[in-house]
Amino acid sequence: MIKFGVRRLEDFHPEPPSGFFQRLAHDLNSGRASCRLLRVSMPPSVPEVAAFEHIMRDLELSSGIYRTTFRKRFENLDPKTIAVLALRFNSSAPLMVEDWAASDCLTSAEWAPALFAAFPNARLAASDLTLFLIEAVLPGGDAFIIETNGAALQYLNGPFVIQMIPGEPRRRPLNWWLCQRAAAKFAKVRSEWRIPPAWLESKSAELTQGRFQFNKISVTHPEAEHLARTDPRFTVRQHSAFDSLPEPVDVIRTMNIFNNAYFPPERLTEGARAVWRSLIPGGVWIVGRTVRQNPPHHEVSYFTRTNSGFELIERLDKGSEIEALVLALRT
Ligand SMILES: C[S@@+](CC[C@H](N)C(=O)[O-])C[C@H]1O[C@@H](n2cnc3c(N)ncnc32)[C@H](O)[C@@H]1O
Repeated sequence: MIKFGVRRLEDFHPEPPSGFFQRLAHDLNSGRASCRLLRVSMPPSVPEVAAFEHIMRDLELSSGIYRTTFRKRFENLDPKTIAVLALRFNSSAPLMVEDWAASDCLTSAEWAPALFAAFPNARLAASDLTLFLIEAVLPGGDAFIIETNGAALQYLNGPFVIQMIPGEPRRRPLNWWLCQRAAAKFAKVRSEWRIPPAWLESKSAELTQGRFQFNKISVTHPEAEHLARTDPRFTVRQHSAFDSLPEPVDVIRTMNIFNNAYFPPERLTEGARAVWRSLIPGGVWIVGRTVRQNPPHHEVSYFTRTNSGFELIERLDKGSEIEALVLALRT
């Protein structure tokens, strides 16, 4: 069986269409879509947003961490969180709230209206390590989709969307062979280009270097981008969950990032330390994991930052899987 992958918006059907040939085309394309479809117009069309959200659910990064997030994911978590915050902070407090590792920041944008209703003077900063991918177009018109760390996620050539992460399975020999060739080609072309860090940090979306053209593709949800443009209380920025903030804040949420499946205990402890250093004494940390997607169900711990570590305030279900590690932390 071969897989092509969805490359055009009109070929994107979340549900299998009726009709034999349409269904066959759907089967040959389904399960993967070109990251070029993450590029949306402003304002975006409904199909563009649907494609963006579909891709975001399954996108795996070279770190092995998924971008997975989705609309209404924290529909049942947000009211609980606001209730916990309302017990500790005055509603007029100018709360500084951070949502770390927020992927496309859609769940942050969904949290904002209820947070701002309860705390009108609050500010919410959504962040992630990765705010854009890069399309590297080769002279022949074929292209790699790469991360800012230089790793290739996809190879796009003719009708094929070749998955370089996690790679193509051997049970699809043609895809597997194309992936091997793409990996060899990537090793060669990568040695010919040098993407300047200044361009990565700049607002410039395009760069031409020798035979190569590089284009940034935003992976921030259009609704989060819109909110950031229209409400000065909401911002989106790049930040690593292992770096402490220059100024401590009142509240930090880290959902589905500090997971045992993603990091060893020593690294998780470093993450907890970064959160501790980024919170004011008495600040609140919300940490947890989504253990079921439909309907979403989360295991979450609410901590307050003390002078020497963290104290547990409350749990949702069993609490975070790193709760013991956090409570053992001494700073
Ligand atoms: C599974 S998603 C979680 C998204 C969102 N918090 C949620 O729960 O719906 C994990 C996110 O962590 C981001 N990530 C990976 N390493 C990171 C780091 N060191 N700092 C910040 N974000 C990171 C990835 O880019 C990805 O968007």
